[in-house]
Amino acid sequence: TESTSEKLVELAKRRGYFFQSSGAYGGVGGFYTFGPQGAALKGNVEDAWRERFALAEGNMEIDAPTIMPEPVFEASGHLDGFDDMLVECPECGESHRADHVVEDNTEYEDAESLPIPEVEDVIAEYELVCPNCGAGLAGQAVDSFNLMFATNIGPGDSDPGYLRPETAQGIFVEFPRLKEYARNQLPFGVTQIGRAYRNEISPRRSIIRTREFTQAELEYFIDPEADDPDLSSVADVEVTLYPASEQNAEDGKAFETTIGEAVEEDIITDLWVAYFLGVAKPWYESVGVDMDRFRYRQHLSGERAHYASDCWDAESEIDGNWIEMAGFAHRGNYDLSKHAEHSGDRFTIFRQYDEPKTVERATVDPDMSYLGPEFGGDAQAVVQKLEDLAARDRSAFDGESVEISLEGETHEIPVEKTGFSVEEQTEAGEHVTPHVVEPSFGVDRTVYTVLHHAYREDEVADEERTFLELEPEVAPTFVGVFPLQSDDELESEATGIAEALREAGLSVTYDDSGNIGRRYRRQDEVGTPFCVTVDYESIEQEDGGVTVRERDSTDQKRLPIDDLPETLSAIRAG
Ligand code: GAP
Repeated sequence: TESTSEKLVELAKRRGYFFQSSGAYGGVGGFYTFGPQGAALKGNVEDAWRERFALAEGNMEIDAPTIMPEPVFEASGHLDGFDDMLVECPECGESHRADHVVEDNTEYEDAESLPIPEVEDVIAEYELVCPNCGAGLAGQAVDSFNLMFATNIGPGDSDPGYLRPETAQGIFVEFPRLKEYARNQLPFGVTQIGRAYRNEISPRRSIIRTREFTQAELEYFIDPEADDPDLSSVADVEVTLYPASEQNAEDGKAFETTIGEAVEEDIITDLWVAYFLGVAKPWYESVGVDMDRFRYRQHLSGERAHYASDCWDAESEIDGNWIEMAGFAHRGNYDLSKHAEHSGDRFTIFRQYDEPKTVERATVDPDMSYLGPEFGGDAQAVVQKLEDLAARDRSAFDGESVEISLEGETHEIPVEKTGFSVEEQTEAGEHVTPHVVEPSFGVDRTVYTVLHHAYREDEVADEERTFLELEPEVAPTFVGVFPLQSDDELESEATGIAEALREAGLSVTYDDSGNIGRRYRRQDEVGTPFCVTVDYESIEQEDGGVTVRERDSTDQKRLPIDDLPETLSAIRAG
């Protein structure tokens, strides 16, 4: 029998939710197009996310480019560390993710965290074979493969750039400007909804693992010493948790608790992560994720990204497998301090002391014009670099000379020439590098889960029916409007009703083709919550009313035409 996923992918293609891109050229792995229904559903999910995570929280939204220059990813660690393990089949030449091959065919659950030689050993020991052609993979070298798509900025290849592998970097690099918009006050949050690109070795399961996808990310900047969240609004939120300790234990399993209790019992140790887990759970419910098939799973220590100190994933159950829809990570000050180091710009916030303090400060000689010619006359940039270094790492001045890099070149400067000294000063405050808590949502996986969890089959009037029980808030079309038959008067009345409903802000589909049963089925399959049918009674009497049919129950009611916009808008608004 077909799985729900198989049926869903077929429905998605037939009804315009999503399908593989560039089909005319044979299709290309890992790229999907959202059709008319899918684009509308995805847009509604994004709007709901924006409403909750940007507007309701008072966070700023930005829209940064998807291509960024190489130094950004040198600093962020993606150039060196954003790799997957690749094994190539000696027979058919197909490339596979080595850790997936291991996880799918052995009892190893977290092969991604194994070092390459160990993965090679496991492949040999279990005599693992190519998932494509069945040839043995033992003895094949496992390589690391960087997932970023590379390009060139401008003609020639002197300015390499990369398609961003996460929207987050577009926020981090703009921190020196964004903090001004936040009036230099912590905490503050910046969101972005946009495309991210990863050259996945084996894209799989339709839109669940693609090479171009949409993320909705929030980077929440906090003062690690001062800003604790108020958990009162989320303490009672019920959640299913699967912490690392349970995953490591024999017979360990996920259990139900509340955010408040989980914090009290040190199951979730990061308070900001706890806060956002508490905010996200009702949000997922509101867009239609089935809460019986939803859990938060903590990353095992080997599984965390290069920047994360703790991470929990929001997972949904799809045909018996758990998939990651979002990650909630504490990134510490990793990103901002790396960008400070690599760019020389200021990625700090001034934290005012309660009272002025006498502190030791490391300073350099502000006039280093004598260094001029050696540095192309840009002595000011040298001073700035040295000042930053002195503030960050005094021990760099312990030796005879100190190293700084300027426009890609490393310079050695004798310490005595820098005028380095440590003085006592009275200070009103200090510059601190904020920490970052990051709820990072995959929009495509949310859309997939919403569709999968909404997929229903039943029988109506002895006929099998497929329908999507989508939440009205996200359904691509809220109401279908039909004239009962092909008839000028019915059509004109129905068109007028469709127009009035559109004016009331509802998304409306007008359909006058095929028999009425077929039209209901079509709307059921795309998940339209209501259909309105105009018949002769509607036009022959003064406001003769229309039939309003509800999708899930198929119940029909007669409603006055004049009341429709208000009644349906009220339902849509919840
Ligand atoms: N900034 C943090 C970050 O990017 P991630 O866990 O790598 O973290 C966040 O990605 C979310 O993006 C994932 O939870 C997932 O929903 C989505 N995502 C990641 N790779 C994806 C892919 N190849 N296809 C579709 N969605 C993906």
